[in-house]
Amino acid sequence: MRRILVIGIGTGNPEHVTIEAINALNSADVLFIPTKGAKKADLAETRREIIRRYVTNSATRSVDYQLPVRNAADPSYQRGVDDWHAAITRIYQDLFLNELGEDGTGAFLVWGDPMLYDSTLRILERVRAAGGVEFEVRVIAGITSIQALCAAHRIPLNLVGKPVEITTGRRLAESFPEKSRASVAMLDGEQAFAKIDDPEAEIFWGAYLGSEHEIVISGNLQEKKQEILETRARARAEHGWIMDIYLLRKGADFDDEA
Ligand SMILES: C[S@@+](CC[C@H](N)C(=O)[O-])C[C@H]1O[C@@H](n2cnc3c(N)ncnc32)[C@H](O)[C@@H]1O
Repeated sequence: MRRILVIGIGTGNPEHVTIEAINALNSADVLFIPTKGAKKADLAETRREIIRRYVTNSATRSVDYQLPVRNAADPSYQRGVDDWHAAITRIYQDLFLNELGEDGTGAFLVWGDPMLYDSTLRILERVRAAGGVEFEVRVIAGITSIQALCAAHRIPLNLVGKPVEITTGRRLAESFPEKSRASVAMLDGEQAFAKIDDPEAEIFWGAYLGSEHEIVISGNLQEKKQEILETRARARAEHGWIMDIYLLRKGADFDDEA
C-alpha cells in the first residue's frame, strides 16, 4: 500500500527539523513541494534548503505542485475553505496516483506541526473518503510557531495552573480578555490586537520566527500597539509577505489563589 508521511518541519529555521523528520525525509520516494506564487517563494525556499541539507538518499525526488488559492471573496468563510480543500483533495489524489507506485512513499513537508492550524491531515482524510486511492498515513511532529514564539520571548506559555486559548485573529475579540486571560492569536490578517483596549493586557508578538528575519516585541499592549503596527507594516512591505503570531495575556502567576 502507498504510505504518506506528514512531516512537521518547524517554522523557518532548518535547524528546527528533528532527527525523526530527517529519517522520514530520507525514507520517501517523493517529496511533495507546494508552490504558492512569488510572495511565498521564501517558504518554498525554506523547504528546499531543508531538502538540500538533510536528504542524502539519491533515490528521493521532489515534485512541485501548484497550491490553489482560497477564494477570500466568498461571503461564507466555511464554504470558501471547503471548496479550497476540495480542490486540494483532487490534486493530492492525482499526485498519489501519478507520482507514487503502489508501494511508494510520499511525504508532505508541513510548516510547523501538522496538528496546528494546518489542513494536510484533514485533506488526506478527504482523499481517503473519495475512495480512488488507498494509503496509510504517518505523522512526524514538528516545532510549532507557538513554541518558537515562547522560546524567542523566553517565556512559559501558561501562567501557573492556568489555561491558554489558541485562536485566530478573526475570533480573538470573542474571548480575550473576558473569557480567556491568555490567548495565542494566529492567522491574523487584520491586527485584531489593535482593537483591544484593556489597559492591563500584555502582548508577546513575533514575526518570521526562527528565520534570520525574526522580529519580536513585547510589553503592555496599549504602549506597544503602535510600534507593532508600524513594524509589521514596514516588514511586510520589505519582504512582500509576513507571518506573525502573538500571545495576549492578562494577570499573573497565582493572582487568583485564595
Ligand atoms: C496556517 S498556520 C500554520 C501553523 C503551523 N502549522 C505551526 O505549527 O505553527 C500559519 C500561521 O502560523 C503562524 N506562524 C507560522 N510560522 C510562523 C513564523 N515563522 N513566525 C510567526 N508566525 C508564524 C502565523 O500566525 C501564521 O499566520
